[in-house]
Parts: sequence; structure tokens; C-alpha cells
Amino acid sequence: MVKLTGLKKIKTAVFISGTGSNLKNLIKFSKIKKSPITIDLIISNTSKAKGLIFANEYKIKKRIFRFKNPRNDEKKILKLLKNENIQLICLAGFMKILSKNFIKEFIGKIINIHPSLLPKYKGVNTHVRAINNKDKFAGCTVHYVTAKLDSGKIILQKKIKISPKEKSTSLAKKVLKQEHKLYPAAIMKIFN
Ligand code: GAR
Repeated sequence: MVKLTGLKKIKTAVFISGTGSNLKNLIKFSKIKKSPITIDLIISNTSKAKGLIFANEYKIKKRIFRFKNPRNDEKKILKLLKNENIQLICLAGFMKILSKNFIKEFIGKIINIHPSLLPKYKGVNTHVRAINNKDKFAGCTVHYVTAKLDSGKIILQKKIKISPKEKSTSLAKKVLKQEHKLYPAAIMKIFN
């Protein structure tokens, strides 16, 4: 992993597809003095991602790549990341799967937040699956991204209790609240 040298902060890109609450939270975190990162670029695979408003609000460069031709878009993204000197990629609700070739270029420098206690429930619909299986606990995980989906080394994980009458919507809210604590904590852990 990239180590923080001197006083220079790590230039970071955040990839989103939706609401962007983790993005907003990371932007806020990046503004505090002890934060090892700055958020310099936001990438979305859709112009409909609500989270793009935070690019305008915080005056951060944003780019949309629709992934209709994933290979081409990944090439363009890599070029952009290099031009912007990006050293860390945070996936935050980014719902496209990055290729092996792309990940290889940034190995050890891409991290993701996932709404389950990995290795349980890789992929989508994590909360519905946890409730259907009558699990007692759910949670979230920040991990390194490797070519194998949701399988890279775990950086931090937070466990929360599933209450007896829990619905997937209420669980998603509870987990998201923890995600907002976990993602900054994981970044602090990486760079300290
Ligand atoms: C978060 O719960 C995140 O963990 C999940 O999408 C949500 C995005 O919320 N990510 C995945 O499911 C990735 N496989 P946000 O847009 O409000 O940050």
C-alpha cells in the first residue's frame, strides 16, 4: 500500500453509482487536518447518481463513464487517474465490476466498502440474504480490491446486531451509519 510521506496528502478518487452518502462522508473526512487523503476526483458510471451533487457542492472534478464499452472506458479512466496523479481509489457504492487489467494497474491502491460481514454475502442484496438466513449479526467491511469479487484482504470490519423484527430497509440504514464510521477508520489504518 502507498505510505504517507512527509506532509503530502494522498490524492484520492471516489467511484460511485448512487446516493453517495459514503462519498459525502469521505469528503468531510478529507477536510479534517488529520486526514491522510484529499478527494480530487469523482467517477460515476451514470449521470443519474445522486451523489454527483457533492462534486458541485465541494467543487471536485467529476467524470461519467457509462461502461457501455468497459474496456475502452477503463482505459480512459486509467489515463485520467494518471493525469490527476491519483494514488488511491475508494469504491463507494460503485456497482460496476472492474476488470483484472484495470485492478492490476492499481493493485493495493483500490479499496471498497461492502455492506456485509465478508466473506459472507459477496455481491448484491446482502441485507435481504442476511435476514432470510435468520442471521443474528450483519455489518460492513472495508477491503482491498482484487480481481476476485469482494474477496481482497480485509482492512476493517464492523459487526452489528440484527433485531428480531428487522427489515432489510432498516438494516440497510443501520449498516450505512456504521459504514460512515468504518470507511474513514480504514483509511486511517492504512496510512498509519
Ligand atoms: C453502501 O451500503 C455500500 O456499502 C454499498 O452500496 C451502498 C452505497 O451507498 N456497496 C455495495 O453494495 C458494493 N457492492 P451510498 O451511495 O449512499 O454510499
